[in-house]
Amino acid sequence: MADNDSRAGARYYNEAILDYTQRVHASHDAGLTRAFATPDGVPAIQLGMSEGKLVHLLVKMIGARKAVEVGTLVGYSGTQIARALAPGGHLWTCEFDPRHAELARANFAAAGVGDRVTIVVGPGVETLPTLNAHGPFDVVFIDADKQNYEHYGAWAIANLRPGGLVLGDNAFLFGQLCDDDARARAMRRFHEGVAAACDSVCIPTPDGLVLGIKR
Ligand code: DHB
Ligand code: MG
Repeated sequence: MADNDSRAGARYYNEAILDYTQRVHASHDAGLTRAFATPDGVPAIQLGMSEGKLVHLLVKMIGARKAVEVGTLVGYSGTQIARALAPGGHLWTCEFDPRHAELARANFAAAGVGDRVTIVVGPGVETLPTLNAHGPFDVVFIDADKQNYEHYGAWAIANLRPGGLVLGDNAFLFGQLCDDDARARAMRRFHEGVAAACDSVCIPTPDGLVLGIKR
């Protein structure tokens, strides 16, 4: 493991450093503050603020115009993505829970991106194929039910343009990625599918973020 830098090397960050750098580089305006909040009954499972900013910058860096998100929650990552899109851009974001979708709709409007976001309500496995005709896409961000990542990853690879970006949150599967069960095996097939079709990496955010550029 001598060449595995995350095991061999020291980690120089701590809570104070993460708080400071998040505040300096990734602070929220009113729109992001609103979309980051999770009202009663909504799980606080959105991206962290620095991760949200990273996703924003990645989308901006590739000049993306057409994006798909799987897992809207109440619109935090969607706002980060939609605000990064080039002029005339559009985000289609898939959400299973109609109550989350309604909250997200209001949050997107308040963040000034209501006109460039379409929320598609239903199970991602069923709704993604309805988006094929809008593709090929520049970005697909996956942050939904973990047992279907393999499926979502395959859809992304089939519907991204060459040079398009696939992102997957929770790529460490809450620390269970290397377990010996069906869900972990499926998540590993997500990794392997992205790696086979893309130039890719998994970066050690708190729960892992996969990043791939389709060949
Ligand atoms: C859960 C889902 C997520 O996407 C996440 O980032 C953290 C937790 C969850 O389902 O518990
Ligand atoms: Mg997540």
